[in-house]
Amino acid sequence: MDIYGTYRPALEAVMDRIAGQIRAYGAAAQEAAGESLYEHLRYRLKSEESMEGKLRQRGLPLTAESALRSVRDAVGFRIVCRFIDDIYENAARIRALPGTSVVEEKDYIRQVKPNGYRSYHMILSAEAPFRDPDGKEPGQFFVEVQLRTIAMDSWAALEHDMRYKHHVENPELIGRELKRCADELASCDISMQTIRNLIRRSPAKEKEETK
Ligand code: GTP
Ligand code: MG
Repeated sequence: MDIYGTYRPALEAVMDRIAGQIRAYGAAAQEAAGESLYEHLRYRLKSEESMEGKLRQRGLPLTAESALRSVRDAVGFRIVCRFIDDIYENAARIRALPGTSVVEEKDYIRQVKPNGYRSYHMILSAEAPFRDPDGKEPGQFFVEVQLRTIAMDSWAALEHDMRYKHHVENPELIGRELKRCADELASCDISMQTIRNLIRRSPAKEKEETK
């Protein structure tokens, strides 16, 4: 049986609506400033296999209700940015999305996880014209948004592979190396931000000069 049961169309609708809203503010920002607010926008409905795995791991019943209420990342977005400031700018735009409220925010950029993981996480509650597990219609559905720089994103993918896809021989050594890498990447992210600020503060070239 489908772990999302009768709620699947609702989750898909929520995902499509928010994807459209993020693309819309991205396009508007691009138009206004000539620069994009993010590099990549990725999103997915968590596969049945991983949702069931997560429920089992937490000792929760394998029902659509627990998949939608006890777990809050059935619908997940990842916004990958070039600069740290862009992460906070995107977070502000997400907070302002109509039909959506913020339930929780976690700043793993300022409060770095001990392994070096950095990202900005938001849990949203999104309204959709469907009945939810509490019997409300229009209903409320959780959405997780992860915001990262390109460097944080490639680091997280590598660390994820180590953790879930391989039995590494020397996890302490690899963990230490990953941590060192995370800190070096973070230092580069900060330098890149500083350099962009300096460039932006410098006078713009005349149209003629840029040819
Ligand atoms: P879940 O981990 O989703 O069950 O919930 P949580 O309450 O622990 O949330 P948290 O915000 O810590 O993590 C949510 C998601 O962020 C995870 O499912 C991962 O996708 C990602 N994440 C968090 N910590 C790490 C980490 O140390 N490494 C990597 N690669 N991803 C992480
Ligand atoms: Mg976690």
